[in-house]
Amino acid sequence: MEETKDQPKGEPEMQLHDQLFYIFLALGAFFTGVADAVCDPKAAIILGGNFTWLVEGIQLKYECPDGKYPYPAEVLSCYRGSWINMQDSLKKPVRRSQCRDIRCPRPLEFENGLYEPRQPYYNISQELTFECYQGYTLRGSQNRTCLPNGKWSGQTTICDDGAGRCPNPGVPIGARKDGTRYRIEDRVRYYCDNKLALMGSKYRVCQESGAWTGSEPECRSPFTYDTPEEVSSKFIGSLTEVAESSDPDKIVSDTEKRRIKISPGGSMNIYIVLDASQSVGKQKFNEAKDVISKLIEKVSSYDVTPNYGIITFATNPKVIVSTTDPDSSKAFFVIDELEKLQHADHLLKPGTNLKAGLTSVYEMMVNQQEDERHRGLDPLPIISTTRHVIILLTDGNYNMGGDPSPVIRQIREFLHIGRNRAEHREDYLDVYVFGIGNLVNIEKVNELASKKNGEQHIFKLKEIEDLQKAFDEMIDESEAFSMCGLAKEYESADNEEKNPWLVSISILRSGRGTEACKGALVSEKYILTAAHCFTIDDRADQITVKIGKKNMEVASLKSHPQYTVGKLRNLGIPEFYDYDVALLELKEKITLNSQARAICLPCTAGTTRALRRPHPQTTCRDHEEELMAVGIVKALFVTPCRDKYTSTRGLRRRTVRIKNNDKKQSCEADAIKAKQYENVTDVSQVVTERFLCTGGTEPEVDPNTCKGDSGGPLIIAKRMRYIQVGVISWGVVEVCKSTPPMECQSDKEFQEHAPSHARDFHISIFKVLPWLREELRDEGLDFLN
Ligand SMILES: *[C@@H]1O[C@H](CO)[C@@H](O)[C@H](O)[C@H]1NC(C)=O
Ligand SMILES: *[C@@H]1O[C@H](CO)[C@@H](O)[C@H](O)[C@H]1NC(C)=O
Ligand SMILES: *[C@@H]1O[C@H](CO)[C@@H](O)[C@H](O)[C@H]1NC(C)=O
Ligand SMILES: *[C@@H]1O[C@H](CO)[C@@H](O)[C@H](O)[C@H]1NC(C)=O
Repeated sequence: MEETKDQPKGEPEMQLHDQLFYIFLALGAFFTGVADAVCDPKAAIILGGNFTWLVEGIQLKYECPDGKYPYPAEVLSCYRGSWINMQDSLKKPVRRSQCRDIRCPRPLEFENGLYEPRQPYYNISQELTFECYQGYTLRGSQNRTCLPNGKWSGQTTICDDGAGRCPNPGVPIGARKDGTRYRIEDRVRYYCDNKLALMGSKYRVCQESGAWTGSEPECRSPFTYDTPEEVSSKFIGSLTEVAESSDPDKIVSDTEKRRIKISPGGSMNIYIVLDASQSVGKQKFNEAKDVISKLIEKVSSYDVTPNYGIITFATNPKVIVSTTDPDSSKAFFVIDELEKLQHADHLLKPGTNLKAGLTSVYEMMVNQQEDERHRGLDPLPIISTTRHVIILLTDGNYNMGGDPSPVIRQIREFLHIGRNRAEHREDYLDVYVFGIGNLVNIEKVNELASKKNGEQHIFKLKEIEDLQKAFDEMIDESEAFSMCGLAKEYESADNEEKNPWLVSISILRSGRGTEACKGALVSEKYILTAAHCFTIDDRADQITVKIGKKNMEVASLKSHPQYTVGKLRNLGIPEFYDYDVALLELKEKITLNSQARAICLPCTAGTTRALRRPHPQTTCRDHEEELMAVGIVKALFVTPCRDKYTSTRGLRRRTVRIKNNDKKQSCEADAIKAKQYENVTDVSQVVTERFLCTGGTEPEVDPNTCKGDSGGPLIIAKRMRYIQVGVISWGVVEVCKSTPPMECQSDKEFQEHAPSHARDFHISIFKVLPWLREELRDEGLDFLN
């Protein structure tokens, strides 16, 4: 057994000047000029890596290649002219930062057995092998591998002789344990090695049932983060458990386990508490909002409709949705309320008052209790049958309002949890904490998180994007490929994953090269595109399509029967694009995956679900009202771009505004400025009611589609889902002819120099529904009336 000196650590107290400094830092984001001493960015250069600004000139974050971590700190702040680590109480200037190798901690103690090799630390991919002395049985993993994030693979290895009432709880790597007797009421206590933070239970008590209280502790290096895969499996595993266990008689199989269900009469409240303080950047705040939408989306994709309570907090808390709101169980309502939320709402009071945030949760419970009392309910469901799940997202260190843990105790007391042993009510409250980034004091928030046997309630993630990935992953592992209009959202997803319905179409014409168009996958077998991409002589075998990274062959091509490009030639109008839509049927069904999945078509059951509306009560009319009702409708199309660094082709989404109602006329009037329409006397000759109009400079400058974009989808994004409302048909001006595709990384939203009459026209899906309904009748899309 290894002997090391290890002192139990006390909770470091936050000093007043720390608090003021944090506030100053956060304010710095908005009043950069106020800083009294500037820091030289060159003095912050890191060997082997680089940095990005969290707050320009004031706070930076290092990035190191995989397998390395920034030493001595990940985040540096400018303080009196020097770069310092905020976690360092002495505020010593940091001189030479470097990217160091990530290593795994060594076992401090291993009871009743041996392990090898014995080293002061372990490199990534090194292996530890354990062996028990005679008479002891090995539980957990015999071999463990050091993972790239500095964790050990597998489970804690334990050599147990089975003599206790409870099994030997073991000693996690990096920890030491006090207590070696495992009878009822016996207690063990854990300590972590000096540089490691303890997550999970510090104390565990052997219960009469033969199980230990709390959850296994983990001793974690400051540079170790949970990966998105770890979060998605452990969080959804635990959350599923929470809802599932509300029906104790049910035996669940492994496949069924993934469905969250609640027993009749039972209900679930999910409180989401979002830290809006350190998320100074608007972008980060929006990302956090997206993450929450995604989580709500995920939960409602199961058979469960919890009531949501949503609270953001900085110096003061702000209730976005209360569980007592009659609409709080409607996912679309909750997501809409969330989307309305502005970061500016917390702008001038950027402290981190976590206690106040949690107090709002408590108050919501009290209000709900009052409500239920008024309604004469007895017993009160909030206390007797409702399961409460608190999800806390924070990327800062709380610095105002004091210690939030008494509020958790207050909530437990309110819910009658832990009052007496006979009545086991721990199941009625779960507190999950997601700490994002390096500023979170993980040991402090660990106090708040629930500790339950075999579950994980506290997660430390590198950045908000990892949480987004984790929730994405949870969506993917369900039956979700068949759900329409889902895409991966996070930055590092590839182009196909971000636009998995986008199809490239090539038509090979002997002697005349190839013609390129775009289309959208609308089912496993069909692609919707524009009819004008094809000539009357084109045959299916001349057409190939690329979906994701896969080339597919086409079985048949069918244009809309009313599409007749030459219909108005006798009036001197050479081209006419009414009903400019076509369907390509694939020879074989495509296997749906993250790079190839269908977009939602309006007036289908899939879109009703995407909009989180009740099915089958929701009608086609409801879809049109929700998607197209207002005068200016934001939509998007996807177009090629050129990577600034590698010059390879990428894709980018461009936002345009569909002009409806009163704005429609002036948009359509510009059609006659098209070269081919010089003989048009009345714009309604060429712009029929089938068209949607985008482009121009009012109310904002819209980007324009280019020739190769023809046939691609015009999309409305709603609640993280993508619904096709148009097929790109033609434009008044060819704006892209001379200019190469724009840089993917460019901040610009539009091409410069496009005239105000540069309008684009798209066939409205709502106007060609009878044809789609007929052609796609066997595709299982379940068209609505
Ligand atoms: C940061 O450093 C990595 C190498 O560690 C490099 O690949 C990357 O391009 C750098 N990023 C920026 C923005 O300079
Ligand atoms: C671990 O990595 C360091 C630095 O890369 C190297 O010097 C050392 O030999 C490695 N140790 C083992 C046991 O592989
Ligand atoms: C552990 O590693 C040893 C030697 O490397 C090997 O013989 C053994 O089969 C491994 N055990 C397990 C459970 O993988
Ligand atoms: C407009 O009509 C005139 C006379 O019929 C014809 O010569 C001309 O080509 C037409 N313009 C276009 C763009 O087709």
